[in-house]
Amino acid sequence: MAQAQTQAETTPLDYSPSFSLKANNDSLATIVYRSRATSSLSYEALETLSKTAQLRNHAESITGVMLYDESCFFQWLEGPPENLSRVMESIRRDQRHEDVEILSERPITARMFGGWDMKLATRSTQGGIWAHDVIFPKLETVRELRRHPDLAPTLLVTLAPKQRPAVDHFDPTRMVSDLLHAAVIPEIFARHIAPPVAAPQIINDAAVLRLAELLLASDADAAVSMIHEAYTSQDSLLGLFKSLLEPAARRLGDFSVEQICSDYDVTIGLCHLQTAIRLLGSEMMSPLCAGTATPAVLVVPAPGELHSIGAALNSEAMWQQGWAPHSEFPANDRELQQILKDGWFDVLDLSLSTSLEREHWLPRMATTIDLARRASQNPDLIVIADGRSFFQSDEAAALVGADAGNNSATDITRDILNVMPKK
Ligand SMILES: Cc1cc2nc3c(=O)[nH]c(=O)nc-3n(C[C@H](O)[C@H](O)[C@H](O)COP(=O)(O)O)c2cc1C
Repeated sequence: MAQAQTQAETTPLDYSPSFSLKANNDSLATIVYRSRATSSLSYEALETLSKTAQLRNHAESITGVMLYDESCFFQWLEGPPENLSRVMESIRRDQRHEDVEILSERPITARMFGGWDMKLATRSTQGGIWAHDVIFPKLETVRELRRHPDLAPTLLVTLAPKQRPAVDHFDPTRMVSDLLHAAVIPEIFARHIAPPVAAPQIINDAAVLRLAELLLASDADAAVSMIHEAYTSQDSLLGLFKSLLEPAARRLGDFSVEQICSDYDVTIGLCHLQTAIRLLGSEMMSPLCAGTATPAVLVVPAPGELHSIGAALNSEAMWQQGWAPHSEFPANDRELQQILKDGWFDVLDLSLSTSLEREHWLPRMATTIDLARRASQNPDLIVIADGRSFFQSDEAAALVGADAGNNSATDITRDILNVMPKK
């Protein structure tokens, strides 16, 4: 023990987080790490550790959760960056664990574990000795952590206390919407992502999550190499859209719904994704010569939509299949109408965000489509709606007056041909 102490004292300990420390008193950050207990901890030892941590965390305005499983610790800490840095230095020095590996550290806009000075989560409370103060994680969460420890930042969030909106009356619409976002939509996506429709599924959910996290951390270089590696192993650009890039964009949107990041962070993440795709352009994008008998498609993000990655992917997918789409970025409905007046188009491909649900934009999208049809030289203009709001929802496409919705850039040409009149 004395020997271990000496070693700890001589180890450089100045822990400095990679995010910048802001002067702003309100700024918050999170650190997630994992480590291994130096010896298996008794319940009493775990309780002592946990209670000491809670006392100090309370004084330091730090909240979070610590999961103990099979001699491994996973901990999410959140609070003011300076305090986090201080506490993290103590934690690193602690002889009760070793191999401390930081899995994520970044600024956050809101606490996920507000009110929890440091909740202990473990399945080994044996008889509930102090189980009233411990949470019992689901077996599948613990199994996932054992399989993919690097997913801890996301998996720990599933343990967070449900944040209730401050409403003073019963609001069933809000309740249904919360339920949809918290349980139904993630479940639908989880089911959708697992079995691929057309592409070979060699990219899994863990990779999707990893890419989304790299984008969120603005690690464009790592994102580029990851996409590059995936492309090399899959050897199909279109397959990559469906199995990795689009799910990663949706995962970014989930992060914002889960309040792990802001909508602004999603926009920045999407910019990195678009840059990453462009950087790889010369190597992986080899457009075929445009065929002569392909439809004239106008690809645009819906006027006012900042997230243009859906339009970029669709356009690229069409080029890959020998079509020659025309891409524009109209600032408003009038500009879009002008483009449709000036040129002949068979199809208008109009996209909302690939990451975020934009239900509240649907009425506006309906107006855009109505005005576009009226302005179009082609009286039989076909309109395809895409984006997360239309992902697996034919009703949403019908609601805005589109002829069809599109689920993935991989399927865009097929979706268009399905609704084009047969000659
Ligand atoms: C796995 C693990 C997690 C810990 N988490 C915290 C924590 O969240 N907050 C905290 O103040 N101390 C935590 N500690 C205890 C600290 O390592 C340390 O003992 C305590 O903060 C006192 O710090 P000091 O020895 O620098 O005075 C943890 C220790 C271990 C082994």
